[in-house]
Amino acid sequence: MKAEHLRTVADRLLANLAELATVGVTDDGACCRLALSDDDRAGRDLVCRWMREAGMDVRIDAIGNIFGFRAGVEDTAPVMTGSHIDTVRTGGRYDGCLGVLAGIEVVRTLQDAGVRTRRPLVVGVFTNEEGARFAPDMLGSLVYVGGLALDDAYARIGIDGLRLGDELARIGYRGDAPLPLYRPHAHVELHIEQGPVLDAEGITIGAVENVQGISWQEVSIAGQANHAGTTPMRLRHDAGYAAAAIGVFLRTLARELGGNQVCTVGALTQHPNLVNVIPGRVTLTVDLRNTEEAVLQQAERRLAAFLAELAEAEGVAIETRRLARFEPVVFDAGIATRISRVAARLGHSCRAMTSGAGHDAQMMARICKAAMVFVPSVAGISHNPAEHTAPEHLAAGADVLLHTLLELAA
Ligand code: GLV
Ligand code: MN
Ligand code: MN
Repeated sequence: MKAEHLRTVADRLLANLAELATVGVTDDGACCRLALSDDDRAGRDLVCRWMREAGMDVRIDAIGNIFGFRAGVEDTAPVMTGSHIDTVRTGGRYDGCLGVLAGIEVVRTLQDAGVRTRRPLVVGVFTNEEGARFAPDMLGSLVYVGGLALDDAYARIGIDGLRLGDELARIGYRGDAPLPLYRPHAHVELHIEQGPVLDAEGITIGAVENVQGISWQEVSIAGQANHAGTTPMRLRHDAGYAAAAIGVFLRTLARELGGNQVCTVGALTQHPNLVNVIPGRVTLTVDLRNTEEAVLQQAERRLAAFLAELAEAEGVAIETRRLARFEPVVFDAGIATRISRVAARLGHSCRAMTSGAGHDAQMMARICKAAMVFVPSVAGISHNPAEHTAPEHLAAGADVLLHTLLELAA
C-alpha cells in the first residue's frame, strides 16, 4: 500500500487504551498511577511489552524516561513522539496515554505495511509529567533537555514524603541510557485537549501553536490553634481564615487580570482539622497560568503583596516555596502548519490553538522543533474519571500523528 493511504488501526489503539486504564483503576473508575508508584511500574511494564511486540528497541534513561526506537533507512536524527502514562490521583484514561499508545500504534501500522522511513522514529514515555506526586510537572522531559540536574530531580520529595530517586530505583526504572539519549530532528505529541474549545466548536483536530506559562507555589500559613468557643474573634490568628482569604483573592485576581488568566488552589491541608479548634496551620498550593509572561509575573507580584498584607492583618506567618515555574512556550510554526495541512488532507476539520495544560512537548521544544496535535475532550472535562474522547476522534488524532511523523521522517 502507498504510504499516503495508510491508516492506524483504531481497534488496536482503543484496546490498548482500555487495558492500560485497568492499571491502577480505583473504585470510582479513575486511573490512579501517580508517578513511580507500583501502578506506574505496572503501566510501564505493559507499555514496554507493547513497544517490543511492535518491533521497537526499548531503552530507559537515568530519570526513567522510556524510549522505543524504530530504525530508519538512515542512521540520523530521529523524529520523536510520545507523552506520559503517569496520572493525577483522579485521572482519566486518555491524558498522556493517548500520545504514547498512538505512537506505538503508528509504528505497528508501519511495520504491518512494511513502510520504512528515512529517519528513525522514537516513541517516548516521560517520567512524572503530571507533577501531582513530585514537583515540578514535566520533570522527566525537563531533565532530558538539561533544564533540571539529575541529582536535583532525584532529591525531590513527593507528597508522601518519599524521595524521587529512591522511588525510581525501587520500581526498577532507573536506567542507564545517557541523557539525552536522542537529539530529535523534530518532536510531535498527540494529546487530548483537556479543555472545551474543540468540543464546543465541533472541530476534530487542534494544531497547537503555543502553551501557556505555569507558576506553582506552596503557601504555608502558621497561626495559633485555639479554642473555637472561647477565643474572641479579635484575638484570633486563624490560619484557616487566611487560607480562605487567599482563595477568594485569587478568584478576584483572575477576574481583574482578565484575558486567559487562571488561578487555582488545588491542594489544602489544615491542622489540626477539628470542629472546635481554630486552625493553627494550613498548607495550600497555588497554580497560576497565563499565555502572557508579563501578566503572569504581575499575578505573582500581586499575590505576594496580598500575602504580606494578610500576614500583617491576621498576625499569622506566611511562607512560600516555589514548586514549578515555566514561561509560555511558542511551538514551531512550520510543524503546526504541517499538522493543519495533514488534517485537511485526511478530511478532518482543524483549527490552530493554545494549550492550557503543560506538556512534555514544551520541554522538547528547547532542543528541537516541536508542536502538538489535540483531539476534543467531551465537555472539556479532564483530570477527572469522566474524561472522554470519542473513538473516532482518537482514531483521527492517531492518523494525523501518523502522517505528520511520516512527512517529518521522510
Ligand atoms: C499537567 O497535567 C498540567 O498540570 O498541566
Ligand atoms: Mn497530559
Ligand atoms: Mn494531566
